[in-house]
Amino acid sequence: MTAKINTVVFPVAGLGTRFLPATKAVPKEMLPVVDKPLIQWAVEEAAAAGCTRFVFVTAPEKGAIMKHFSPAPHYSDTLKARGKTQELELLKAGLPENAELIEVHQDQPLGLGHAIWCAREAVGQAPFAVILPDDMVQHSVGCLSQMVSAHARLGGNLVAVENVPADQTHRYGVLDPAGEADGLIEIKALIEKPAPAEAPSTLAIIGRYIFDSEIMNTLSRAIAAEETGAGGEFQITDAMSQLIGQVPLHGLRFQGTRYDCGNRDGFLEANVAFSLAQAQESGNKSLQSKLRRLLD
Ligand code: G1P
Repeated sequence: MTAKINTVVFPVAGLGTRFLPATKAVPKEMLPVVDKPLIQWAVEEAAAAGCTRFVFVTAPEKGAIMKHFSPAPHYSDTLKARGKTQELELLKAGLPENAELIEVHQDQPLGLGHAIWCAREAVGQAPFAVILPDDMVQHSVGCLSQMVSAHARLGGNLVAVENVPADQTHRYGVLDPAGEADGLIEIKALIEKPAPAEAPSTLAIIGRYIFDSEIMNTLSRAIAAEETGAGGEFQITDAMSQLIGQVPLHGLRFQGTRYDCGNRDGFLEANVAFSLAQAQESGNKSLQSKLRRLLD
C-alpha cells in the first residue's frame, strides 16, 4: 500500500505569451473557462482527488493567483450583510475546508523540472502530484482521481498519457512503451519533444503527474551539475528517465477528453465543451443545440 497523495504542485510561473495582450496584466492561469479561472479548475480536480496541500510555484508579477485563493473581505462583508449565502460559497474558489496553501517563487524560467524542484521544501519526503492547469480533462471522475487510484496499486512515478497526431510529438514528452494492460503502460524510455522521425511512439504525456519524492533528489543533482535537456531547460521528463530501473514508471491512458488550453483553439474549444456540460446539467436546451453546432 503506497502513501496517500496529499500535496499537489501547480507550476504557474510562466509567461502566457500566446495569449497576449490578454495576459499582460492577468496571469494566463486566471483566464476563465466558462465561469472559473483555469487554476481553479485545477485546484478543484486536485481537491476531488483528496489533496489538501496546494503548492503554487509562481512569480512575483503573478500575484493575482494567490489573491484568488485568499480571503476577500471587500466581498465577504458585503455578501454577509446582504445574506447572499450562495455567493459567499463561491468565494472559497474551490478550496476544501482543511486546505493548506503554500506559495514558492521560481525566479528564473529554467524549465518544468526546475519549477517542480522549487517546491522541494514544501513537498518534503512524500509522494506528490503535479497538475499543469493548461491541460484540462473533462470527465465525471477527474483525471487526477483516476491517477491516484492507479498509483495506490503501482506506486512510483505515474504520468497521464494519450495518443497525439504523429506530427505533434515535438510538443510533448513521448513514451517508449514496454507493454500495456488495462490502460496502464509500462514505460522503458521517455524523450522530451522528439521530432516526429525520432519519436518512439505517439503516446504523449499530458499535464498530470504523480511522483515518488526521489524525483527531487534527481532534479537537485541535474540542477547542480547544470545538466539541461531539450530547449536548454531542466526537463522533468529527463529526471523521470533517470529513475527508470530504480522507481516504477507507468503511463495511464486516462478516461475523458483533454483540451490544450495553452493555445487559443484548445482554450476556445474547452469553453464551448464545458459550457455545454453546464447547459446539460441545467437543462438549457436552446444553449445546448447552439453549442453542439459550434463543436461539430
Ligand atoms: C510540458 C512537458 C512535456 C509534456 C507537456 C504536457 O511541456 O515538458 O513533457 O508533454 O508539458 O502539456 P510544455 O507544454 O511545458 O512545453
